[in-house]
Amino acid sequence: MSGSRKDDHVRLAVAQHETDGETPADPTAHPPSQFDEVHFVHHALAGTDRDRVSLRTRFGGLDWPVPLYINAMTGGSSKTGEINRDLAIAAHETGVPIAAGSMSPYLKDASTAGTFTPLREHNPQGFVMANVNATATPEQARRAVALLDADALQIHLNTVQETVMPEGDRSFGHWPAGIESITTAVDVPVVVKEVGFGLSGQTVSQLVDLGVHIADVAGRGGTNFARIENGRRPQADYTYLEAWGLSTPAALLDARGHGLPLLASGGVRHPLDVARALALGAHAAGASGGFLTTLLSGGVSALIQQITHWLEQLTALMTLLGAHSPAALTDCDVLVTGSLRHFCDQRHIESPSPHGERR
Ligand code: FNR
Repeated sequence: MSGSRKDDHVRLAVAQHETDGETPADPTAHPPSQFDEVHFVHHALAGTDRDRVSLRTRFGGLDWPVPLYINAMTGGSSKTGEINRDLAIAAHETGVPIAAGSMSPYLKDASTAGTFTPLREHNPQGFVMANVNATATPEQARRAVALLDADALQIHLNTVQETVMPEGDRSFGHWPAGIESITTAVDVPVVVKEVGFGLSGQTVSQLVDLGVHIADVAGRGGTNFARIENGRRPQADYTYLEAWGLSTPAALLDARGHGLPLLASGGVRHPLDVARALALGAHAAGASGGFLTTLLSGGVSALIQQITHWLEQLTALMTLLGAHSPAALTDCDVLVTGSLRHFCDQRHIESPSPHGERR
């Protein structure tokens, strides 16, 4: 992947988040989302004591200090190497796990290693995930993990992005076998993630059979790679794909109970969305485009402050809800309304609330 393409992705992703009204200048401005159709039922005496609330989350053999991570973004050019350095510093200062962007540039040209290694150099004790696509060979996957001394490996699924991308792949039938061979070859947990169009329950069931350990649903609602790649085409003739895919709440509801621990990313806008995702069964929530926009407009201190505030406010929300752990949020009464309710009805998905509307 050429460095200029990675620079394009950064530029177009930030432009998207600023166009959608989610600018650091007004962090309260957020685009509408199906997350807004997930409602906690308020119980006035459900609250607990703040010092009884822990953010620690354990799943799929992993033990994370907090249920929030910086999701995959970039690397491969000098500019994106600086971004990775700053993202790593923010991860180190806040303790959140972090993922590399696709390491295809490094696998094609080892001289770009220095645009990815800051993720470990500036975050020596942190949880770091390498990232490859499903066409990487087992040897390439091992190289990517080794470069970062990675604690896990992400494999991204991005068929919509590849379809819209002028220079994208046009054949995907061999991807499942690729995932299986990579999963067999590496000695760290494998997380399969989408890039913003969501993983369905059917896909998660397939991933179980391929030996994958964790699924990151990475649904629609945030950074949109159909819009990004349309912005890179000489004529934007795939605009009709920009509404394609499952939103993150819809993907979580569809993928629950299909055999893998779930992570939620894609359009996570603030701590309440994190709490909503955890209540729908995710073990942690990730963000990319919003964090990148904060970093590029306010610098690494602004990103550290934002992540710190998110963790503080998530703790406050859990205290309000009486949830002593991220997993305990799944015991909270949650109602699903509007188009998300309609999706559940059509997909024959039971209400997520342990008590549902019966109360
Ligand atoms: C991404 N994303 C991404 N994902 C991946 O697995 N490998 C990659 O190389 C990239 N590259 C990338 C670049 C930029 C600039 C952005 C903003 C995002 C996708 C990302 O990890 C995530 O799945 C989606 O962006 C949805 O999350 P947000 O951005 O809505 O929080």
